[in-house]
Amino acid sequence: MPKPIHLNLFIQSRGHHETAWDHPGADPRSLMDISYYVDLAQQAEAARFDSIFFADVLMMTNDAMESGRFWPDPVIMLAALAMKTEHIGLIATGSCTYSEPYNLARQFASIDHLSNGRAGWNIVTTWVEAVAANYGREHTAHGDRYEMGEEFVASVKDLWDSWADDALVDDRSGGGVCGNLDRITPIDFKGEYYQVKGPLNVPRSPQGRPVLVQAGASDRGRDFAALHAEAIFTAHLEKETAQEFYKDIKKRAADFGRNADQVVVLPGLNPVIGGTEEEAKANLLELNSRMDPEVGRRTLSQRFAGHDFSHIDLDQPLKVSDFPDPEKLETMKSRAALIVRIVGNEGLTLRELLARFAGGRGHYTTAGTPEQIADLIEDWCTDGAADGFNYMPPVIPALMTPFIDEVIPLLQKRGLFRTEYEGATLRENLGLDRPKSRFFD
Ligand SMILES: Cc1cc2nc3c(=O)[nH]c(=O)nc-3n(C[C@H](O)[C@H](O)[C@H](O)COP(=O)(O)O)c2cc1C
Repeated sequence: MPKPIHLNLFIQSRGHHETAWDHPGADPRSLMDISYYVDLAQQAEAARFDSIFFADVLMMTNDAMESGRFWPDPVIMLAALAMKTEHIGLIATGSCTYSEPYNLARQFASIDHLSNGRAGWNIVTTWVEAVAANYGREHTAHGDRYEMGEEFVASVKDLWDSWADDALVDDRSGGGVCGNLDRITPIDFKGEYYQVKGPLNVPRSPQGRPVLVQAGASDRGRDFAALHAEAIFTAHLEKETAQEFYKDIKKRAADFGRNADQVVVLPGLNPVIGGTEEEAKANLLELNSRMDPEVGRRTLSQRFAGHDFSHIDLDQPLKVSDFPDPEKLETMKSRAALIVRIVGNEGLTLRELLARFAGGRGHYTTAGTPEQIADLIEDWCTDGAADGFNYMPPVIPALMTPFIDEVIPLLQKRGLFRTEYEGATLRENLGLDRPKSRFFD
């Protein structure tokens, strides 16, 4: 029996391609209509996805209007989806840099209760510089964000552990108590950035702790992910870099004394599917032909901390020297490095680079038949590049339906993907252990 793979559905707008929002194959409902997200979660659940996931940026991005990139608050969406689904994991992004541990711990523990153990937190340190102005702050440097993140995550874990599993007694027989105070403890967390007394005002949640998801990819980010994350999202344009990342992250986790099997690695996959290979390639070309290169140019500039690319002709081959050194950036160092790497390797023009990024923003984009996509998934998962995928539909529903209707059944027929959920919680479906309480177990 091959190792079972895991699939997460990553929803953004009406699809991940930057032109998806007004594509004729896109869902006509408003991006603020919760029925749209409920339908997607229910479809993903029927297809037996492990989880559905929402990213978040704490500002109106500079492509929000041209690319339809806005959505309801992800944590609030999870509460609604918890009421309309029964099995699928529910993952939302929460920022360590622009939130408080107590608020966030309470919100995600509440989602875990509401969903009977299906919550996951995508831990981010928020790389976009302009967000700081929405909080009356200066942008925090890359390394400092991870230092804050270490304290944030440690204090959140402590808050989740501050109630023993048996602390809630709810004894209504007369003269009884609701909770046993001996089984609830302050945490007295004292860090450089955060001080949290505790305990949390919510009982320990069904999973003990919601599943911790992270996507660190720089050297510092990989250590952070390897130490804390139970599922790791990651972006690769080539199988070779995915294999290098997979090996490295599992080794780092083992070096931290963790069981590397308790870290599920999920690279992004943005497949454009067609009945034949020619049709799939034509679908991708059609999507890219709708793209406005000036929107892409602005997004590229944001990735490189506002660097000016306006003087570069769209059809001019790019040079590595056209880009700032990724290591010197205080934004997302790793994605910037990935861009510079393919420019160096492939000598793309700016137009070609922007087309490459319009679909998956640096995640693996490919065009093929359902069979070819199933082959690719099987190959990466059996060749040390992935434990499954973070599936990013290019256009919803036009290009998601063939994945659900054709690719998933192929994976099931090959014995690679579940036909029924194994467990009741997200942890159980991902094969993750239930964490012990630091204070009580
Ligand atoms: C699939 C995926 C989703 C992400 N979602 C978010 C997000 O919602 N908000 C955010 O600020 N960063 C997000 N990130 C960025 C990561 O948190 C992280 O900054 C990035 O992977 C680069 O890591 P580094 O800072 O170690 O270079 C995401 C990354 C990936 C791969």
